Amino acid sequence: MLKKLEHLEGAIQEKIDGIKDLASLNDLRVKVLGRKGEITLLLKEIKHLTPEERVHTGRLANEIKTNLEKLLEVKKQDLEQEEINIRLLEEKIDITLPGLPYINGRKHPLTRITEEIKEIFLAMSFSIAEGPEIEWDYYNFEALNVPKDHPARDMQDTLYISEDILLRTHTSPVQVRMMEKTAPQLPLKIIVPGRVYRRDDDATHSPMFHQVEGLLIDEHINFGHLKSMLLHFAQHVFGEEVKVRYRPSFFPFTEPSAEMDISCVNCKGSGCRVCSQTGWLEILGAGMVHPQVLEYGGYDPKKVNGFAFGMGIERIAMLKYGINDLRLFFDNDHRFLAQI
Ligand code: PHE
Repeated sequence: MLKKLEHLEGAIQEKIDGIKDLASLNDLRVKVLGRKGEITLLLKEIKHLTPEERVHTGRLANEIKTNLEKLLEVKKQDLEQEEINIRLLEEKIDITLPGLPYINGRKHPLTRITEEIKEIFLAMSFSIAEGPEIEWDYYNFEALNVPKDHPARDMQDTLYISEDILLRTHTSPVQVRMMEKTAPQLPLKIIVPGRVYRRDDDATHSPMFHQVEGLLIDEHINFGHLKSMLLHFAQHVFGEEVKVRYRPSFFPFTEPSAEMDISCVNCKGSGCRVCSQTGWLEILGAGMVHPQVLEYGGYDPKKVNGFAFGMGIERIAMLKYGINDLRLFFDNDHRFLAQI
């Protein structure tokens, strides 16, 4: 019995040494110490020995059992450590490799121009107003002095939702909306950035584009006020050396009406392809607010007057950045957007 035990111990120790993974180690543990394990079975036989033998053998058997348990535990820890080492090695990150390039986001050129224009007028104590893109025919046309059968509607025919509701063709309807809200308080000084919609689609026109409207109502306002503010605006956006000129024009909601040109940003006025050899580029429409419109808005045209202007943001951005196709703004091509 003693011999058997010692022999078994030796054999098991050898086996433990030879084991290379946790699963086999567990199998061996069951085979040796489990309910039907080799040691367990031997221990059961101790009761058949004589009392003297039993004491001695019993003690030795228990020592061997404890010893084997310890060996198995130590081996288990070794194997676990080994597994961790292998994993650490496999999952190692080489921190000296160059990282992936990170592409910084930036503001869209149209957003940048809009913000720039806002800043210029905010500094002249205008505030910012907004209005709905889905608009009543009343605000888009009628309250701006464009009755139902007026030929001026053809210039801006748009996307109708119903007989009375359409996608606004300009930001001018916000003029009347804000007058209604503010009248008879003075002054009313707003700029209105926003999206507008027209039935156009080519290299310089898109069915959706952006405008900034300006409106100033107060007592004793004249065309000189309009000119000085718009000159300041033009110099801010296009540089101190830019020149401006006004040509008579027609808008039903301003009288008199004008269009403002700036000296060509490309040739500085000598004539080139960009300005069709004229030296000038049209950038906005403007005029003194028509008395009829003031009345629609709730102001008394005998007591107050004002000026208004409207410009296309895409056009300003195209001229400022030298872009020849407006559709580039809406293609979302990073190679284009990243250049500005
Ligand atoms: N709303 C006009 C347009 O879209 C521009 C404009 C605004 C003209 C204000 C005069 C005054 O063409």
